[in-house]
Amino acid sequence: MKKEYPAEVQARFEAAVAKYPHKKAATLTCLWIAQETDGHVTLEAMEYIADLLEIPVTHIYAVVGFYSMYTTKPLGKYHIQVCHTLSCELMGAEGIIDHLKQRLGINVGETTPDGLFTLSGVECLASCGTAPMCQINRAYYENLTPEIVDQILDQLRKEATVHA
Ligand code: FES
Repeated sequence: MKKEYPAEVQARFEAAVAKYPHKKAATLTCLWIAQETDGHVTLEAMEYIADLLEIPVTHIYAVVGFYSMYTTKPLGKYHIQVCHTLSCELMGAEGIIDHLKQRLGINVGETTPDGLFTLSGVECLASCGTAPMCQINRAYYENLTPEIVDQILDQLRKEATVHA
């Protein structure tokens, strides 16, 4: 079935397309809008974008597969992306990841059964001076320690309860 988006989301797609002289140039922005709206990039969204940009859907598949910022798997409400590149690794990223695995009861690449948290390991997020760090949704959390991680998780759980 053909994907349909609410009018305000359609308007975002159209605004993205209007920014460029060639429709194809809006591919990354459109994928981002779809992922933000649906929580991940669905097959239907890829077909919708291919139609919108008048390009083959195979081009969209290739882009989604190439960039690690796009996911075709549903994510938790909070996507915790821990940097494990050199500076963060030297400053204890592995310990932070182990702590998160233990606190959340999941492995890297998994989502907690309540759908709250997805844990990922990612490459440099350009905040090497404040290593170890992670990105949760759009926010950076820096100079992490296991204690700070616990505070962040408690805070996010509280937020999730308030907005439930
Ligand atoms: S190495 Fe972690 S932010 Fe650059």
